[in-house]
Amino acid sequence: MSVIAKQSTKIKSDSGKEASESQTYWITTFGCQMNKADSERMAGILEKMGYVEASTELDADLVLYNTCSIRDNAEQKVYSYLGRQAKRKASIPHLKLVIAGCVAQQEGESLLRRVPEIDLVMGPQHANRLELLLNQVENGNQVVAINETQILEDLTTARRNSNVCAWVNVIYGCNERCTYCVVPSVRGKEQSRTPEAIRYEIEKLALKGYKEITLLGQNIDAYGRDLPGITKSGRRENTLTDLLHYIHDIDGIERIRFATSHPRYFTNRLIETCAELPKVCEHFHIPFQSGSNEILKSMGRGYSIERYKRIIEKIRSLIPGASISADVIVAFPGETPNQFRQTINVIKEVGFDQVNTAAYSPRPNTPAAKWPDQLSEAIKVERLKELNSIVEITAKESNSKYMNKVQEVLAEEINPKDPTQLMGRTRTNRLTFFPTIGPLGFKHKVGDLIDIKISDLRPFSLSGIPLN
Ligand code: SAH
Ligand code: SF4
Ligand code: F3S
Repeated sequence: MSVIAKQSTKIKSDSGKEASESQTYWITTFGCQMNKADSERMAGILEKMGYVEASTELDADLVLYNTCSIRDNAEQKVYSYLGRQAKRKASIPHLKLVIAGCVAQQEGESLLRRVPEIDLVMGPQHANRLELLLNQVENGNQVVAINETQILEDLTTARRNSNVCAWVNVIYGCNERCTYCVVPSVRGKEQSRTPEAIRYEIEKLALKGYKEITLLGQNIDAYGRDLPGITKSGRRENTLTDLLHYIHDIDGIERIRFATSHPRYFTNRLIETCAELPKVCEHFHIPFQSGSNEILKSMGRGYSIERYKRIIEKIRSLIPGASISADVIVAFPGETPNQFRQTINVIKEVGFDQVNTAAYSPRPNTPAAKWPDQLSEAIKVERLKELNSIVEITAKESNSKYMNKVQEVLAEEINPKDPTQLMGRTRTNRLTFFPTIGPLGFKHKVGDLIDIKISDLRPFSLSGIPLN
């Protein structure tokens, strides 16, 4: 960590607020569920420190951007947001500006040169240390915390956005070396939490009334690789499969999900466990990235598309009705029109429930960014457009199987656009809307598990009527 003394330490005393008045904070989160989970923990730390949430970003005494660097457009967003806050600081000197997350890790001190108004730059591994770092800022320093470090067990209470569904980190970081991906360099080495710490967190969530948990990791199949434990038969003991068994009996938790799965490590044993354990939901997010074996090889993914399809077949044979979602990259360096077709064909063949698509974006400190055979912006746009139109068609087709079927939906919140409706997700992760009051006059509420007869389909959501 580097601590840079500010020219003037006046800022601390010049807070412009009465001692009795609470300081306010605002967090904007970019990027994936990992970042969202980190933001909830950082919000919890700020509230423990006495901060209260501001009503708007422009009122806040502390603004924290939890940033994402996965593609260039995600990174650029941060700079435009930052410019606005830097201007604000000229008239409100007590404003604290914090840049957390993956861009912070990637850029480090150079962010301070670019935007000197920033008080704190902190990488994702430092999220749980926010209080300590802010104390150093209070002492009049500009602080950069991006050194590789052991992630602290989270002793604070996250301020979660939902009272029903919660994220639970199980493994941080990523040891893979996909040639396009910035994550290993910004999230560091894999660090698994112990099964005991994870179980303890979920038990506490259950006591608070949470019904659904999603276990999180960039490569969740790597869970436990860095923990000790080998069984008598020589098998590794602390795998994701073992963890699912270990937490399954926690009373009050009705649904268990996990993400993101890596086809290289996704085992038959895991699929069998998901089929066996009733709380594990029938939804799998397994990115395949490309339908071409040559491209998969140059991406460094470590599996063939045949292996990927075998995984899907196995899931479907053991868990009929399971939904499958994936991520895909188009226009990776050197991708030929034919290789792009192979990706399209996989999408048509597998019939995904949802596919997140992106055009390849060269990232700092990644091998593929330096390769000479980069494709033009025009090809990227054209391929992405074609892919998206296919994805929409297959998503619609896969939606049609829900028509007139009864699905169990966990009510997560009131529909913000229509207070007479609740919204939630099916076990297969389909967003579903339905009236709060059922046909028999029964009033349903947030946190209930409700059987819904599906009566309306849209490409990315469903509507229906409660059975009672
Ligand atoms: N750990 C997950 C995904 C992490 S990043 C996995 O291994 O699949 C989320 C998604 O962003 C990736 O699945 C990939 O499709 C996309 N992505 C990552 N780097 C990218 C890049 N440089 N350009 C375009 N998309 C990228
Ligand atoms: Fe990135 Fe690959 Fe790790 Fe996923 S597995 S986070 S794509 S390096
Ligand atoms: Fe983005 Fe970092 Fe997640 S780069 S996708 S926020 S791990």
